[in-house]
Amino acid sequence: MNVTVFGTGYVGLVQAAVLAEAGHRVACIDIDEHKIERLRQGHIPIFEPGLEPLVKRNNESGNLTFSTNAPEGIAHGELIFIAVGTPPDEDGSADLRYVLTVARTIAEHMDDKKYIINKSTVPVGTADKVREEVTRALAARDALHLEFDVISNPEFLKEGSAVADCMKPDRIIIGTSENASEQKMRQLYAPFNRNHDKVIVMDVRSAELAKYAANCMLATKISFMNEMSVIADKVGADIESVRQGIGSDPRIGYHFIYPGIGYGGSCFPKDVQALKTTAAQLGLEPEILNAVESRNHSQKHYLLDKIVHRYGPDLSGKTFALWGLAFKPNTDDMREAPSRVLMENLWQMGAKVRAFDPEAMQECERIYGNRDDLQLCGTRDSALSGADALIVATEWQQFKTLDFEMVRSNLKDPLVFDGRNLYHPLDMAEAGFEYYCVGRPQQAPTKAS
Ligand code: UDX
Repeated sequence: MNVTVFGTGYVGLVQAAVLAEAGHRVACIDIDEHKIERLRQGHIPIFEPGLEPLVKRNNESGNLTFSTNAPEGIAHGELIFIAVGTPPDEDGSADLRYVLTVARTIAEHMDDKKYIINKSTVPVGTADKVREEVTRALAARDALHLEFDVISNPEFLKEGSAVADCMKPDRIIIGTSENASEQKMRQLYAPFNRNHDKVIVMDVRSAELAKYAANCMLATKISFMNEMSVIADKVGADIESVRQGIGSDPRIGYHFIYPGIGYGGSCFPKDVQALKTTAAQLGLEPEILNAVESRNHSQKHYLLDKIVHRYGPDLSGKTFALWGLAFKPNTDDMREAPSRVLMENLWQMGAKVRAFDPEAMQECERIYGNRDDLQLCGTRDSALSGADALIVATEWQQFKTLDFEMVRSNLKDPLVFDGRNLYHPLDMAEAGFEYYCVGRPQQAPTKAS
């Protein structure tokens, strides 16, 4: 099928590459000429496992093309995805400017029936706004006879496993009331809809809300566990045992109940905020969403509280090694990352940071530039050198085993603040480490350091 994707950000690029891989002819359109030129040369603007070879292969085969020429893209695609950004407005609601501009452009240039598919995460009611925008622009050129439908088809991909998530979706939500649209979408996704039917068809508003409900439910699970970890700390319980104890109940499940130092990324914080705003605009008080957001904010300060408790509020003269800058492993994304709250507060209290992340070093430099109190180190070991203590903020695989002797010989004191519960408190105590984590009882170090 001929498909056009507007927006070569995370969602658009992954979706386009995966559809091309399945044999569809996909044209990617973006207004950023530099980005399009780089993509043509095989340079992927984001770090995402498996994406680069996929883009290169399909670009070379001609199944995946990149251009800034919107009219050409519109002529090409019978199905047109809108996957452009929806940054949060000042009041927290999603800014639909780019989505509506694409809608208008499609209407200005289309000359046959188009299936317009909303892929961006957009507030409930956006498909109707897109429909109005297209109708208005068609009317302006006296072309109301041209048919179109606006379909909601939310994505559920995770950064770091986006290609795999897209290749093997656990559900394909299609929001439309038109039979023809459902059939087109089924045809489009047929290569990904094997074994059992993963397509769930519903009205457009339900599809839009389903996306928010999914992310907010996941954010709620995490925040609930984060709150339990604080309680566990106070009552002397071990949150790891609690996690296993409740995860074994299939109604709860093992997924997304890992406590930590708060969720980050481009989706959860933005979507919780956007749904809160939608609810508020409707005169509702979103009590649970308010609590989720507030817990996440506190949780991002939880390890800092432990650091202040240990050292006092004046950290001048102290240096902390920080392992992990990305908001989670396998990405270079630092949007809403807990590491940022940590660093910014440590700096404010006078401390210096020696940081290492396997992928997000450039991103960190882009955000913070050169500053005296931040040293970006080439390896995890060199980040430790001369630091007073180690802080772990992201659960990268390479952080999961700790070479006790190496860490001890590099740090001034054998002291670790672990925001991801990567190590066992007993092992740490036996190795002579003072160890602070999230929701697990502290053990006195037993080996003389
Ligand atoms: C999320 C959703 O998972 C995905 O379905 C949606 O399409 C986009 O938003 P993503 O933001 O890429 O994906 O990351 P995810 O792996 O879901 O993690 C989100 C955050 O939650 C991270 O900060 C992670 O560290 C945190 N998290 C996750 C926990 O703190 N505990 C957990 O048990 C799971």
